[in-house]
Amino acid sequence: MSLMKMKSLRLGLVICCVFSTFLFAEDYVEKPYLTNPKTDGITISWIAEKQVSGKIHYGETEAYGQTANEVKIIKVDKDRGGYAYKDKPELVIHRVRLSGLKPGTKYFYKVEIPQFSAFANSFYTINSAPTSTVAFIFGGDRVRFNDSDVEFVESKIGKPLDFFLDVGDHTVERFAEDVPKSWQGRVPTIVARGNHDDEKAHKGEIVAFFDFDEDKLMYSISWGPLFLIIDGESIYKPRQAEDFVWIEKQFGDTKLPWKAYSCHGVFFTDSDHFAEGPARVAQYWPMFMKQGVQLEINGHDHDYQRTDRVDREGKPDAKGVVSLTYGGVTSDLHGKSSWSAFQWPPLPEKQMQERAEKLGSASRYPKLTPQDDKYEASAKLSKSEKHAVPFLVISGDTARLEMWTGSGTNRVLRDSYTIKLP
Ligand SMILES: [Fe+2]
Repeated sequence: MSLMKMKSLRLGLVICCVFSTFLFAEDYVEKPYLTNPKTDGITISWIAEKQVSGKIHYGETEAYGQTANEVKIIKVDKDRGGYAYKDKPELVIHRVRLSGLKPGTKYFYKVEIPQFSAFANSFYTINSAPTSTVAFIFGGDRVRFNDSDVEFVESKIGKPLDFFLDVGDHTVERFAEDVPKSWQGRVPTIVARGNHDDEKAHKGEIVAFFDFDEDKLMYSISWGPLFLIIDGESIYKPRQAEDFVWIEKQFGDTKLPWKAYSCHGVFFTDSDHFAEGPARVAQYWPMFMKQGVQLEINGHDHDYQRTDRVDREGKPDAKGVVSLTYGGVTSDLHGKSSWSAFQWPPLPEKQMQERAEKLGSASRYPKLTPQDDKYEASAKLSKSEKHAVPFLVISGDTARLEMWTGSGTNRVLRDSYTIKLP
């Protein structure tokens, strides 16, 4: 072989090595994300294709100062992880619990895994002062919040978001590859398990991807003036009286002024799951009103729906409960009932009139009929109008809800609502 040929072969090998290193370099399948926030701790998880050794440096400054080495390893079937993982041979979830932290305090952290790209971020522990302000985004199902959404909301509320309330059936979308989501490494997620998060093909996934105390899927959290119960028990399991004992006691014991309940299943809905609503309203609403609950937040429907404060009949009541639904913006709405204060996507006026005539005023729950053109409304919306971000800011005697559509700095306020303590 001539010297020239040997040199070009060596050059080719070097290029090939650099290229393959670039192509096949090990890195995160899912970058670090936060779950199970407390006043004194938080869980940082990351996902890789195989088990790796890592540690987390953390502290109140970017000098860190403390290190957590204890990594819990959880291996899961890739089919339980959603679209982003379909081509992966295996998924290994790495989980590190930070504890002994101060409440309402900003912490910086850095994940050290020698073969992976550098990762550093920061978070806040729960602020337990009832005089503080709590702010969060919420949604489940088809929702895909990106970094720009979170930055936009934070610019509106003038403070960092405290958490993301994930109202279920969202694991698959949560890890979507095409969504910039470094926010998941600084804003913790609080999860209410959905029916697709646990049952049949997806059995058990949610407790692998998210950290729950003792794997309990029904739990409460106190954050500033808000007391929130997150109920991740199956939405299809019939509720018995004794199931409500824990919930009632929790609401009864708290001294915090704002009480909210969150789960995946629907209550007041004009969407695909309308048949599931009435029985659940009849079971829960009297208890909510007795316990002074102001807010109920759910997913399951792939749209945005809101009531005013309503009683169990859906009638306005100053001591009633506001029902919020958000699971993305698709074409599942079938009408608008008397209780409904706002829906997105909007149904065209003509379609609404036809619905009203067909159903009659006596019909509380619209029935889906074959001639309904349920795709008409959302088909006319632009991609940007189908991207909605709702948030709640609770402070003192006021809870402020806003829902914006759009992207970047080009956004439109579609719904706003202020709830006052009675
Ligand atoms: Fe669902």
